[in-house]
Amino acid sequence: MNKLAVITGATSGIGAEFARQLATTHKTLWLIGRREQKLNQLAEDLRVQYGIEAHVMIMDLSDQSVIDQLASQLQEQSQLSTLVNNAGYAEDGEYHKLDWRLHEDIMNVHVEATLKLSYAALQVMTANKLGSIINVSSVASFLPTPSSPLYGPTKAFIRTFSESLAIKYKDYNIKIQALCPGFTVTDFHEKIGLNPDNFYKERGLARSWSSEFVVKNSLQDLQKGKVVSVPGWNYKLIVIVLRLVPISWILRILYKQGTSHRYSE
Ligand SMILES: NC(=O)c1ccc[n+]([C@@H]2O[C@H](COP(=O)([O-])OP(=O)(O)OC[C@H]3O[C@@H](n4cnc5c(N)ncnc54)[C@H](OP(=O)(O)O)[C@@H]3O)[C@@H](O)[C@H]2O)c1
Repeated sequence: MNKLAVITGATSGIGAEFARQLATTHKTLWLIGRREQKLNQLAEDLRVQYGIEAHVMIMDLSDQSVIDQLASQLQEQSQLSTLVNNAGYAEDGEYHKLDWRLHEDIMNVHVEATLKLSYAALQVMTANKLGSIINVSSVASFLPTPSSPLYGPTKAFIRTFSESLAIKYKDYNIKIQALCPGFTVTDFHEKIGLNPDNFYKERGLARSWSSEFVVKNSLQDLQKGKVVSVPGWNYKLIVIVLRLVPISWILRILYKQGTSHRYSE
């Protein structure tokens, strides 16, 4: 039985599902997010169903001082087995029109939090010569995302950062994964104004998967030592194509789609 798992963005969607699945293999969970009521309900459900300790931590990871506070708490946890850097969202709009503060926020939630929490976790995990870090990236990390200007770039950073770390920390028996889901049924798309009822209908090759499926695949891939986990046959295929096709072709297609293109449509 593993000891402590820490999950950012555990309130809903993929993060809440990580909490449910890691509750079967960990004694204690730290559940981090901003929506207190939902987190408390999840924690209570997990305590009742699995008899584990679940601690709710209300934290806004767009605030650098909050990230620092969580990082120093993590560094004290000699029992830390698993860290899931999952908190994330997409902004929607033109880069120069969005308030600069919004750009700083997404950089903090996606990049700063992932960097600092991984750094803190590795202090413990290298000492223990054991541990796992899952950083939630996206299939969008392989693509330009014109209507969500920092989403694709920050997710690409998360993926390549994880790939770099994974090689080094294999020597310490630490598994590091970049999880790259495609469309997944969560609160994510509603938050940027898309109607989930329309959105998750027939999407052909871009069909969506459940959080349960995505997390199950991620944890299976972690066991197998896969560094980049892409759940779903359709997204595996899309990622292979995106890796093979020259970027000039992808840019040409996106140019043709014009400014109305949203990465999520
Ligand atoms: N759904 C998809 O199609 C999809 C595809 C690829 C990748 N992803 C990635 O998967 C991850 C989880 O997203 P999801 O789809 O599960 O969407 P979700 O249901 O909206 O979950 C996002 C989580 O991030 C947390 N979060 C957002 N901003 C935060 C902040 N400032 N401080 C602390 N926590 C914050 C939210 O918690 P609070 O609101 O309580 O703060 C929530 O728990 C994200 O990184 C997303 O980019 C999603």
